[in-house]
Amino acid sequence: MILETGHPVRHFDRIDSTNLEARRLSEAGESGPLWLWADEQTLGRGRLGRNWVSAPGNLYATFLFSIGAGAEAAAQVSFVAALAVHDTVMALRPALAPQIKWPNDVLIGGAKFCGVLPEVVGNMPLRIAIGCGLNIGHAPEGTPYPVTALGQDLAIDRVLAELDRALSLRIAQWDEGRGFAAIRSAWSSRALGVGGSASATLGTRQLTGIFRGLADDGALVLEQADGTLSPIHAGEVHFAELEELRRKTR
Ligand code: BTN
Repeated sequence: MILETGHPVRHFDRIDSTNLEARRLSEAGESGPLWLWADEQTLGRGRLGRNWVSAPGNLYATFLFSIGAGAEAAAQVSFVAALAVHDTVMALRPALAPQIKWPNDVLIGGAKFCGVLPEVVGNMPLRIAIGCGLNIGHAPEGTPYPVTALGQDLAIDRVLAELDRALSLRIAQWDEGRGFAAIRSAWSSRALGVGGSASATLGTRQLTGIFRGLADDGALVLEQADGTLSPIHAGEVHFAELEELRRKTR
């Protein structure tokens, strides 16, 4: 199957993980651009080493492509992808009013409906796999955070086509890092909690401050009470605005 953008799609009824397949293909010399799409994953992977429950009924897809820029630029892809997922929901269901949560979650009414897992899967040229899991027909149970789904009436292939269109436009805008200012500004205006209070857990340390936005490398910038700007690269961050939203919708 070929999408409107010209990107080919390899479809699997069942696979371990579309990100793992992207890595295998890259190791065999494939540099994309192409999509790997599975109805079901037996080893779906999430961020921070978690698993991603991947029963049929949702979208599990990975976009494999290559860039001329170096690995520093690859760190920005997370924001490009989150924006593309946001654009996709705005194109299909604008009333759902999605919001982005740093770094690349997209929430609906404070509940997570999608996960993005960008990985560098090869070098020379640098190959990037952007794994996207979007809950469409159902949301998994037993998650430590609220979850939701886009709606059973949406066809999964339609969501993939829309995501492909949005991702292609955002990747072009990003321009391998030269357009990151535009990405950062679009991301910030759609993100939860910018300008509000946030707290981050860094090992045993807890930092609290005001979320000032994104650094060039995608770090979350937290301004502490004494004016220090601390970049947060990874870990769990809690946003006061999100806690408040979840309290109201509980
Ligand atoms: C997250 O934890 O938020 C990221 C989840 C990413 C899941 C997608 S589903 C398609 C692709 N294949 C995987 O194994 N993971 C990603």
